Amino acid sequence: MAYNLLKGKKGIIFGALDSNSIAWKVAERAYEEGAIFTLTNAPVAMRMGEIQKLAEKTNAHIIPADATVLDDLEKLFIQSMEILGGPIDFVLHSIGMSVNVRKGRPYTDLNYEWLTKGWDVSAVSFHKVLQTAWKLDAIAEWGSVVALTYIAAQRTFPDYNDMAENKAYLESIARSFGYHYGVRKKVRINTISQSPTRTTAGSGVKGFDAFIDYAEKMSPLGNATAEDCADYCITLFSDLTRRVTMQNLYHDGGFSSMGVSQLIMEQFGK
Ligand SMILES: NC(=O)c1ccc[n+]([C@@H]2O[C@H](COP(=O)([O-])OP(=O)(O)OC[C@H]3O[C@@H](n4cnc5c(N)ncnc54)[C@H](O)[C@@H]3O)[C@@H](O)[C@H]2O)c1
Repeated sequence: MAYNLLKGKKGIIFGALDSNSIAWKVAERAYEEGAIFTLTNAPVAMRMGEIQKLAEKTNAHIIPADATVLDDLEKLFIQSMEILGGPIDFVLHSIGMSVNVRKGRPYTDLNYEWLTKGWDVSAVSFHKVLQTAWKLDAIAEWGSVVALTYIAAQRTFPDYNDMAENKAYLESIARSFGYHYGVRKKVRINTISQSPTRTTAGSGVKGFDAFIDYAEKMSPLGNATAEDCADYCITLFSDLTRRVTMQNLYHDGGFSSMGVSQLIMEQFGK
């Protein structure tokens, strides 16, 4: 059901790779709620051509940008404002990648060049996006910026590897920049800590299937899906959450508050 929650709002959505991507679902929901937006992803991700389908479906322009490259980000914001006809009301940062995870390197034997690359893509890119917007004064008053994160920033999940540190860093940027942007322009900046979700990035983590099952059994409401996450993003982009900022918001069916569940106990009682 649509409620026109984003009617007249202009956005930039990073990270829609294919129809499983959380950003893909956010774009579909934002369109349903009346927003206009540009879609962006790293030029290499565009080669797959999937994003074109989403652009057609949501009437959106695609602007390639590597989120670690400041020039690309500057062009992205300038072009988005031209295309959409004014400053940006909402931004979704839905970007994550660890070279160490990709190449199966264990946490106790990290390659630091790969670590630095993954940190730049997954965490520093968020600062780069915000700083670029700040310098161009590209975000409208009461605008809303959301980045996606995972509970491995607070608790240990061994196979999440160096992404745990990247997410901790990302969440900290939301607080630090949230202060400055709040004071200057009443722009709010939050992270959503999402349940494990079957996507390209998610499935790259070792043991993901067992892990998603475990989370499902631990969460009283079950795992939050990508569609659920999109709904939550829409509320944060809307005017109904104007004084929520600098928060890490758990969107995980209750997982983050659990010690153990009956379903998990039963599994071990067998
Ligand atoms: N899937 C999960 O289990 C899960 C859980 C919690 C949080 N998250 C987070 O959600 C976000 C979206 O991931 P997803 O699960 O939808 O997977 P996904 O693989 O569909 O999305 C990740 C995106 O990051 C993009 N990207 C990588 N390098 C980039 C760069 N240099 N510049 C611009 N874009 C770049 C990829 O092209 C891709 O579109 C990530 O931050 C991820 O860590 C995912």
